[in-house]
Amino acid sequence: MSPYAAITGWGMAVPERRLTNADLAQLVDTSDEWIATRTGIRERRVVGPGESTSTLATEAGRQALAKAGLAAAQIDLVVLATCTPDRPFPATACTVQANLGITGAAFDLAAACSGFVYGLNVATSMIRAGAAKNVLFIAADVFTHYINWNDRNTCVLFGDGAGAVVLQASDQPLGMLSCVMGADGNSEDLMAVDAGGTRLPATPQLLEQGRQFVYMNGREIFKLAVRGMGDSSLQALADAGVTLDDITLIVPHQANLRIIEATAKRLQVPMERFMVNIERYGNTSAATIPIALCEAADQGRLSDGAHVLLTAFGGGLTWASAVVRWGK
Ligand code: ACO
Repeated sequence: MSPYAAITGWGMAVPERRLTNADLAQLVDTSDEWIATRTGIRERRVVGPGESTSTLATEAGRQALAKAGLAAAQIDLVVLATCTPDRPFPATACTVQANLGITGAAFDLAAACSGFVYGLNVATSMIRAGAAKNVLFIAADVFTHYINWNDRNTCVLFGDGAGAVVLQASDQPLGMLSCVMGADGNSEDLMAVDAGGTRLPATPQLLEQGRQFVYMNGREIFKLAVRGMGDSSLQALADAGVTLDDITLIVPHQANLRIIEATAKRLQVPMERFMVNIERYGNTSAATIPIALCEAADQGRLSDGAHVLLTAFGGGLTWASAVVRWGK
């Protein structure tokens, strides 16, 4: 058994197709100015023919394996965080496992936008428990699947994408040092898709009413997200025995630039220490944090030994924060 699970590889994938704010202004009564000032988003990527959660996840996973220098045969577990699987059954992780030629175990995990931090904790714990040595952990969502392109309240916010990391057993104090996870199922209706599951199977009538699309109380989620990410971040820092001054970079879930700014204010940390790329991708659900991590690493913002704070909030409600020590 190893006490740590270092992040030794990373990768990301987004669809080719770009949808700009100007494109959306052709579909609904909105404007580039409204979307940019209220959310920070300028454009997002949307899947086209032949693309799905598994294709994006496979590409991100392939890159992460290459970066780690591991062969498919060395991976003993694939975990995929998603709330938009290719099919309701079986797990999309199995499709990705086959695509990559991996023979280890594979399963999906659903925690909405908190999926990356939840899943990082699960994958790390599997390694710490001695149940796995090399884990490919991917977060991928095609959240636009749930979008009603006539609803300006939601259609401007989301995009599609995937991010992946390889975790390897290590004796060095690397990888996730602490993680705080929370949930409040009493608030599950603040953001949800009602139809298409076992409680309310999709019928022609429900589809006619648009009940297969996401709805949300944006203003309420905004407030709860700032509080949830702020409080769980402070707890994760305390659990890791570090302070905000020790943190090189904060990588928050990218749901709205104003949520990130309000969280920065709550934590009293300047925005320069936050990784922000929401302007190019919008909210890609579970994939925002690993995509932002990849871009931060490629921009040289993560040196070996750097402490990184991850913080997320999403449907469920769910929230989670983790302190990670970067390096192989
Ligand atoms: N274009 C123009 N006007 C719009 C648009 C739009 N795209 N969307 C809403 N409006 C209008 C509303 O209809 C409303 O008009 P009204 O006052 O006449 O009713 C007005 O703008 C203001 O609406 P608010 O809801 O007060 O706007 P707010 O500043 O709160 O911004 C937003 C809305 C962007 C949704 C914000 O509340 C938000 O980002 N909330 C968090 C949502 C979120 O992140 N959800 C996902 C989290 S969970 C996960 O990531 C899976």
